[in-house]
Amino acid sequence: MTIAATQTFPGPAWEELGDVTLLESWPPAAPLPGVEVLVEAVVAVGPDELDLLPDLRLVANYGVGYDRVDVAACRERGIAVTNTPGVLDAAVADLTLALILACRRHLIESDRFVRDGRWRRGWARPELLGRDLEGATLGVVGFGRIGQQVAKRAQAFGMRIVFHRRSGGLPLDELLRTADVVSLHVPLTPETRGLISRERLALLQDGATLINTARGASVDEDALVDELVSGRISAGLDVFVDEPRVPERLLELPNVVLTPHIASATVETRGAMTRMLVDNVLAFRRGEPLPNEVFA
Ligand code: DGY
Repeated sequence: MTIAATQTFPGPAWEELGDVTLLESWPPAAPLPGVEVLVEAVVAVGPDELDLLPDLRLVANYGVGYDRVDVAACRERGIAVTNTPGVLDAAVADLTLALILACRRHLIESDRFVRDGRWRRGWARPELLGRDLEGATLGVVGFGRIGQQVAKRAQAFGMRIVFHRRSGGLPLDELLRTADVVSLHVPLTPETRGLISRERLALLQDGATLINTARGASVDEDALVDELVSGRISAGLDVFVDEPRVPERLLELPNVVLTPHIASATVETRGAMTRMLVDNVLAFRRGEPLPNEVFA
C-alpha cells in the first residue's frame, strides 16, 4: 500500500507505517498514481488536489479539525477521511489558559519591558496593571470536549463560567455582552464561519479579551484587527484566517498575544495524535473499520 505524507509526524508510532513517500510540495507538482493513503495536516484537500491522486482511498488528517478537507468530495470518490479527536483537549485547554493569563496580566509586554531595559525604577507601572482572573466571567463559545476542559481549568482560577453551544447555554449575543473573557471552541463549519462578525465583536465590553485557539475564520478577522487597533479590547490568537499569514497591523500591538497555531503542540499530545493517525492507517491496511472516520 503506497502512503504519501505532506510531512513527518512526531512520536514513535510514526515508524510503524514503514515506507512513506514524503511529498516535496502540496499540492504535488504532478499526478501521483498509485498513492492510496494521504497523511496530511492543515493543507487543502479538495477536488483539484484529489484529481492529482487518482488511486486515493484514505485521507488521514492529523488534527481534530478537518475543515480543510472536502469530505463530501472525498466521499463522492469513495475516499474515507479520519481525524484525531480527544487526545488534544488538555493541551489546547492549557494553551487557552496561558493566553488568557498572558493577555490579562500583560505577560509578553512585561517581558519586553524588562528585556528592553525599561525597568529602571519602582514597580508600579500603570500600563502593566492587569486584571484578576478571580471573579471575572469567562464565556466559552462551543462547549464540547475542549470547551469543557477550558472551563474546568478556569474554575480553578476562580472564574465564573458561562457558555454557549448550539443546543443551549447562554444566547451568544448575551454571552458576548457580559463576559470579561470570551474563548472560542467551535469547529469551523459553514454555520460557524464568520460567527463572530463585526456586529458581534462590537458587543464585547470595553476591556474584554477574546481568545481564539479554534479556527481563524470563525471570526471576521478584519473587524477583529480594527477593534484591536482601536485598543478597545485585547486578544490572544493562536489561529488566523490564512495561516501562516498574520495581519500586518497586529504585529506591533501591545494588546494582542500571537502564537503560531501551537495549541496542541506538546511532545505528549502530538505523539498521541500520531498514534491515533497511525492506528487509522493500520486499520485501513488490514481492512478493518476505521476508528476515527468522519462523515461530514
Ligand atoms: C486541530 O487538531 O484541529 C489543530 O488545530 C491542528 O489543526
